[in-house]
Amino acid sequence: MRRDARPDPAAFIRANLRVASPRALPEIRLYLAHSGSRLSRLAGADPDEPPYWAYCWAGGAVLARHLLDHPETVARQRILDLGAGCGVVAIATAKAGASEVVAMDIDPNAVAAVALNAALNDVAVAAHACDPLDGPPPDADMILVGDLFYEPALAARATAFLGRCVEAGKTALIGDPGRAHLPRARLVPLSRYPAPDVGDAPGEAKAGAVYRFR
Ligand SMILES: C[S@@+](CC[C@H](N)C(=O)[O-])C[C@H]1O[C@@H](n2cnc3c(N)ncnc32)[C@H](O)[C@@H]1O
Repeated sequence: MRRDARPDPAAFIRANLRVASPRALPEIRLYLAHSGSRLSRLAGADPDEPPYWAYCWAGGAVLARHLLDHPETVARQRILDLGAGCGVVAIATAKAGASEVVAMDIDPNAVAAVALNAALNDVAVAAHACDPLDGPPPDADMILVGDLFYEPALAARATAFLGRCVEAGKTALIGDPGRAHLPRARLVPLSRYPAPDVGDAPGEAKAGAVYRFR
């Protein structure tokens, strides 16, 4: 094997991540990283981009919990999970009865993770590697965003994109544990859940919320 050869993402995920349910989401199983996963062996398209897809983030977890508790929110709707990562929001959405679920993420490794995780949960999710933030509103009824407001430039682009989506008559929901760049003035709180974040000690009692973007 060439020294710079990278493993196939799906084979790497199956061999090096562990199937588990995130805390508070016993209905969902995901391939999740552990201390022996050595994710650096699977570089993404941008080596500076962390492997977000290998974890279930607090924002996605609270949004997934909200959708499983309130399936009528997404039932029979066409959904875009923006910044899908491991796909936890897309999977909860499909389980809750959405008619079509599309997951988008800039990281091609996330696309492999979403496909594997959707199969683990026996749901259909179409995953694409792309960045839709500078484009027109997508062909979906609702845009779901789990934990995307962690960097100022990204948060500004996501806020502008969601603004265009809402102006076009679409609904946008956000799950977030209170990241620094959350566009608070544009949010209507819907629900609140305990939300352990990646790296938190077991039992640490942080909370996250689900919002409608207006
Ligand atoms: C903190 S993770 C959250 C993942 C997942 N929603 C969750 O809650 O577990 C943020 C994700 O957004 C993706 N992302 C960042 N910028 C993006 C963009 N412009 N377009 C699409 N995805 C993006 C990242 O690659 C990453 O997977």
